[in-house]
Amino acid sequence: MKRIAVFTSGGDAPGMNAHVRAIERTAQKRGLEVIGIIGGYAGMIAGQFEVLDRIRTANILDRGGTVLKTSRCPEFMEPDGRSRAAEQLHAHGINGVIACGGDGTFHGAHLLWLEHQIPIVGTPGTIDNDLWGTDYTLGYDTAINTATEAIDKIRDTADSHGRLFFVEVMGRHAGFIAMDVGVASGAEYVAVAETMTDIEVLYQRILAQGIDKRTIVIVGEGDEVGGAMVISQAIEERYGLPSKVSILGHMQRGGSPTVRDRVLGARLGAAAVDALLEGRSDIMIGESAGNVTHIPLEETWLTKKSVPPYLFDLSTLLV
Ligand code: F6P
Repeated sequence: MKRIAVFTSGGDAPGMNAHVRAIERTAQKRGLEVIGIIGGYAGMIAGQFEVLDRIRTANILDRGGTVLKTSRCPEFMEPDGRSRAAEQLHAHGINGVIACGGDGTFHGAHLLWLEHQIPIVGTPGTIDNDLWGTDYTLGYDTAINTATEAIDKIRDTADSHGRLFFVEVMGRHAGFIAMDVGVASGAEYVAVAETMTDIEVLYQRILAQGIDKRTIVIVGEGDEVGGAMVISQAIEERYGLPSKVSILGHMQRGGSPTVRDRVLGARLGAAAVDALLEGRSDIMIGESAGNVTHIPLEETWLTKKSVPPYLFDLSTLLV
């Protein structure tokens, strides 16, 4: 193996740049050349490749977003798109690839390996933390800190006015962000897809708090009732109780990565290069109970990772 490539894909996540830097540094130390693929799978198909060196990866580890850019690429979901991508990789003499992203990225990586036998390892890059086989995904720690900081500020004004607030946080398929942030910010109620959200029970909780008092309800965007707006409207229509809605949205994906995300990105990056050199493919490099893990890509989506039960217990115990 002489030349490897790295790309970031799907939703960007803070820590991706520290990760890319670690891959470039590790590869150079191991005598490998590194190519950065610009714009995820779309860039792979289009042949948007650039050589990464020490200078290109200098001063990026503290930056949010991804210097390699990213995309969601429907073309890569078709066999023809993957064939064109494989041709580009062959044409550029690339014989190992590191794919940093979430489950959509991993599905694509798995098919690229099956159909074209290009060695590929995935690394978990998503703020959602919803990948089996790793305790934390890259970007999650920064996102929950960003969201908590925002909710602390909302609490100041909610407290001053004695208002009810519904705050929506990201997490398309799982309530990791909502549950951690709910406990960290002392929210009165957390609504997520993992538990049934009963509007009557929620109303009773708001009453118990005192309708003239500050109440903060965190809503995971994947909640089965709908987002914060839907729940707020339901409470107003049924009980005549007005509220404010704050959707934190994409601010949760930005910002300088925390120490935890920088170190995770560095560790997983170095381990991914070494895994390729050991001849491994079709796996995700994760971290579990302090150790680096090598998990077959398929397992990362076939096994569902659950929000730890202690978070549900704490979120009701501590209100
Ligand atoms: O997968 C990360 C994530 O931020 C989810 O939490 C969110 O639902 C989704 O991406 C939003 O994606 P996009 O930026 O493409 O709208």
